[in-house]
Amino acid sequence: MDRRTFLQSAALASVAFKSTLAADTKPVRLGVIGPGSRGQEVLRHFLHVPGVSLQAVCDVYEPRFAQVNTLAGREIPHTKDYRELLSHKDIDAVLIASPLKYHAEHVIASVKAGKAVYGEKALGFTPDDCQQILSEVLASKAIYQVGHQYRYASWIQESMRRIAKGEIGDVTHVYAYWHRNNDWRRPVPSPDPDKKLEHLINWRLYRETSGGLVTELGSHHIDMANWVFGEQPESVLGTTSICRYNDGRTVGDNVQATFKYSRGRRLVFSSITDNAKNANELWIYGTGGSVQITIEDATFFYEKKKSNAPSPANKTVVERGVETGASYSTGGEMPYRGEGEKVSITEYEDPTLSACRSFVECVRGQQKPLADAYVGYRSAIACSVAHDAVFTELKTAIPRPRA
Ligand SMILES: NC(=O)c1ccc[n+]([C@@H]2O[C@H](COP(=O)([O-])OP(=O)(O)OC[C@H]3O[C@@H](n4cnc5c(N)ncnc54)[C@H](O)[C@@H]3O)[C@@H](O)[C@H]2O)c1
Repeated sequence: MDRRTFLQSAALASVAFKSTLAADTKPVRLGVIGPGSRGQEVLRHFLHVPGVSLQAVCDVYEPRFAQVNTLAGREIPHTKDYRELLSHKDIDAVLIASPLKYHAEHVIASVKAGKAVYGEKALGFTPDDCQQILSEVLASKAIYQVGHQYRYASWIQESMRRIAKGEIGDVTHVYAYWHRNNDWRRPVPSPDPDKKLEHLINWRLYRETSGGLVTELGSHHIDMANWVFGEQPESVLGTTSICRYNDGRTVGDNVQATFKYSRGRRLVFSSITDNAKNANELWIYGTGGSVQITIEDATFFYEKKKSNAPSPANKTVVERGVETGASYSTGGEMPYRGEGEKVSITEYEDPTLSACRSFVECVRGQQKPLADAYVGYRSAIACSVAHDAVFTELKTAIPRPRA
């Protein structure tokens, strides 16, 4: 589609939309940059929010345009150049779901063009990208919401409220897992002699375009740890390797990282790709209990003995005639296998739909989103530094036995 046809058809789409709009619903006219897998999913949710219309899409990969038309149920004006999309006056807000490496370019251009932005996580790729995005969003006073949709999940909000009231005592540790059993590789059409399509479609597998598992999966867990600890991490230690999928990728197929927060508090994150037993879960440990958070629910468990009760270490404990105590029990220590207490919520809504709905309200009311640029920055900067740390692997060698 040439530039003139693109602009004309986008304007016509806008007029057609206005005529069918309920009088009390202020329109929010959306453009999308990068309607790939996540972009189409978020768009699907946006199209369920009353008053939202899709004006135009931009992608460098041609097959996306037909996919978006199918999703929208009509032909959507399209372009391969995001500047063309941003020049369109009838677009109020832009959904940016391009690969991580392009977030800075696309977000900064969008806020400079006066658009509100729903930007997929992670906020930015490099530390410089993260700072520049934050600075531009603040300078332009643009409405920017980052795609950390779990901030909008009712069962997580309720858990965080109860945790903040002290229900599990002092929170000291968060353990988070995202374990899968697949190679994280997408099919690529052939022929692809110069591997251009491979890098466009499998950008996650290459270090120059991807933050690896710690960013692509762990950014949500880092955001939740930031939320519960009320700050971003101070530093990170990590490691990664290619253990199973030696297929030319340059990011690890597993990663383990420990994020240090103030007062000795820690987030421990693990991602593996050859066993999905734990799947995606996050445990918040406090001195009086634990909370398990999943993508569908949250469950509270309480410690049998609160750690502020008198410590058995200060007393002599005798079990079965054996002196025991803090370091030993004759009965051993089995994991707790009983039921916890599920967080009750009145109704379930997909957090991405809740996030889209809330973004639209912010655009209408010119309000700052809950998951704003600072929320995005605090998770993305940790991902960015961790992505280097897992390669640097600052470590202390463990001596082998001498013969
Ligand atoms: N919030 C979540 O739960 C969640 C889930 C999945 C992905 N994501 C994020 O969404 C983003 C996209 O991930 P994805 O899996 O949809 O990737 P994808 O590869 O499926 O989609 C990206 C799209 O951007 C297009 N693109 C690439 N370069 C472009 C450019 N320069 N200009 C315009 N378009 C371009 C690609 O052709 C593709 O269609 C990533 O940042 C990812 O971390 C978030």
